[in-house]
Amino acid sequence: MNTLLLPANEESIVQAARLMAQGEIVAIPTETVYGIAGSAFDGAAVKKIFEAKGRPQDNPLIVHVDSLARMEQVVQKITPRAEKLAKAFWPGPLSMILPRGPRLADEVCAGLDTVAVRMPSDPVAHRLVELSGLPFAAPSANRSGSPSPTTAQDVLADMDGRLPLILDGGACKVGVESTVINISGPQPVLLRPGYITQQQLAEALGEEVLLAGAITHKLKEGEIARSPGMKYKHYAPKANVVIVRGSFEQYAAYVEAHKAEGVFCLCFAGEPESLPVPCVTYGSENDPAAQAHDLFRALRELDEEGAKQVYARCPGQEGVALAVYNRLLRAAGFQVVEL
Ligand code: TXA
Ligand code: MG
Repeated sequence: MNTLLLPANEESIVQAARLMAQGEIVAIPTETVYGIAGSAFDGAAVKKIFEAKGRPQDNPLIVHVDSLARMEQVVQKITPRAEKLAKAFWPGPLSMILPRGPRLADEVCAGLDTVAVRMPSDPVAHRLVELSGLPFAAPSANRSGSPSPTTAQDVLADMDGRLPLILDGGACKVGVESTVINISGPQPVLLRPGYITQQQLAEALGEEVLLAGAITHKLKEGEIARSPGMKYKHYAPKANVVIVRGSFEQYAAYVEAHKAEGVFCLCFAGEPESLPVPCVTYGSENDPAAQAHDLFRALRELDEEGAKQVYARCPGQEGVALAVYNRLLRAAGFQVVEL
């Protein structure tokens, strides 16, 4: 298959909407990461998404809508909690899990009786739903296991020949995937941290929001993932990544002791000057939003530069930094050195 890469504009979005209505899949920008979109009502299209990604069939997709009226087509009903969250954070990088509606293709939910829904703020994603009249299912547009793409070139690197069209809307603003909250049970549970934080969610809901354990811990053998995506290897570059937790001085000493051919640092702005190996930076130490923005591109750049072994500076664990830490932990296969 020939993959076309076009700048995102009204004409190319019309083309994407037409392809989607014909049962095709297309890669598009969102404010979080690039996604592979297919009609959420079309099981055959959704199967194509799983194939293009090489994604395990038991990992459900997020459905994207442009309005609450469209949301009503995919959920059982819009609950008071959903209303509060939509009012506070939509359009924006938040996905909420609710009991699913009957019209959705079963493939979207991977056998679950719930669905994750979000209303993206990116104008391209928004217009695609509007023009096609179809809510679309969209996972991140990477091959399963590799870092999520935050530029159209990153999508092309993974998806060339696997889908007909990629819309280029420039670099994604947020850089990590949406926050995922389950509001289908007795208590709200944060399943995947993102730009919208646990504290912001609790404030908007006026009740406690629990944190799923799998956000910062490896699932034990036989333990059931609340969010199927959490049990898979994720975001991993080809290099072996190890997180090094400690002060910058301790980190620099550790790298000095382990420097060798193919060793790279994944560190913060301003630090490469003081480190004895090649470096790629991701944001600055006290700016978790900048870290989120840069992380996935930085992981891909390490591969492009031929890194074999990467020592990564450790982000914080509060607020937006928790989203960064969660992704980096998976990229590192949970390898953390405590200094
Ligand atoms: O920012 C995003 O959400 C991006 C862009 C493209 O919108 N999409 C995205 O999709 O990150 P994906 O498929 O890479 O991640 C979806 C996550 C997975 O961890 C999946 O297991 C979880 O959401 N998920 C989806 N539906 C679920 C459900 N019904 N119950 C529990 N977890 C669910
Ligand atoms: Mg993904």
